Amino acid sequence: ASEETPSVDLITLTRHVLNDQLRLGAAATGDLTLLLTAIQVTSKFIATNVRKARLINLVGLAGETNVQGEEQKKLDVLSNDIMVNALRASGKTAVLVSEELEDAIIIEEKNRGKYCVVFDPLDGSSNIDAGVNIGTIFGIYKVRSDSKGSVEDVLRPGSEMVAAGYTMYGSSANLVLSTGSGVNGYTLDASLGEFILTHPDIKIPARGKIYSFNEGNSMYFNPPVVAYLKSIKYPAAPKTPYSARYIGSMVADVHRTLLYGGIFGYPDDKKSKSGKLRLLYEAFPMAFLTEQAGGIATTGTKRILDIVPTGIHERCPVFLGSKDDVQDLIKCYE
Ligand code: AHG
Ligand code: MN
Ligand code: MN
Ligand code: MN
Repeated sequence: ASEETPSVDLITLTRHVLNDQLRLGAAATGDLTLLLTAIQVTSKFIATNVRKARLINLVGLAGETNVQGEEQKKLDVLSNDIMVNALRASGKTAVLVSEELEDAIIIEEKNRGKYCVVFDPLDGSSNIDAGVNIGTIFGIYKVRSDSKGSVEDVLRPGSEMVAAGYTMYGSSANLVLSTGSGVNGYTLDASLGEFILTHPDIKIPARGKIYSFNEGNSMYFNPPVVAYLKSIKYPAAPKTPYSARYIGSMVADVHRTLLYGGIFGYPDDKKSKSGKLRLLYEAFPMAFLTEQAGGIATTGTKRILDIVPTGIHERCPVFLGSKDDVQDLIKCYE
């Protein structure tokens, strides 16, 4: 009979994280749970705007250029404002870093908490106007014990993050989160307004059969990447070639990689010497999730989470996904 009746025991994200924190005992004050609640609200708010974008004149350019020289879309700017407001108001943050803001925001004393949040408010801007999946990426550090909040608190290796995650705005809104003990996925039940645990303990398959690169950049790629792509497209029998899937929203490409396995890559190349993706709020959170799901995240020559950032908008090459696939790529660099 249990198969025929809907469950009355819904595991919401807040319930799940709270249980997790309670297991940690006295060390946990509930502050991280409250911060994650604030982040959930921003994802719901952004999700409703994404859905209505075409109807409420939210598509197209905002008219400004961000610090990376990209033209901002209206949804980039709105999502950034939603996140900055909610994170400041949560009272749990000390430092905020956003893709869309040149400088870090240091939270004033009356609203200050002990966490730093680095975020890409809207990832996949080029896909907005076509209604293709986009998302929000975030990583969380705790301020250093002697700090009142400064940019130094986020210029630390990704391995020191206490949590990381993303929300993908697709056919449903999916929030994928790690607080350092595995990865869980939650789906927004819009009628309840709650993220419900639907993907407990996500583990990346050890090997996949999908590769996800922007091969339009092939003529700029360096020899190790060219060699690797050749090896999966023209394998020696009895192996068969991999399938290509590239959405162009990191959130969506990584989400598929976590669930199906395979490899996602955005290499450095002859044109972009450090690649395209930003270390703090794209590479680190996705590397954190990948490792927590049993995969590997590398620049080709070193572990991404070991990099010590020198600037908040620094870029880095990214290869991540199934353990065996990423190992094969690393071999091409050796
Ligand atoms: P954003 O929209 O936040 O600026 O990020 C865009 C990133 C990322 O989502 C994606 O993986 C990559 O850019 C796609 O770049 P290409 O269009 O060069 O393939
Ligand atoms: Mn951008
Ligand atoms: Mn992005
Ligand atoms: Mn973005």
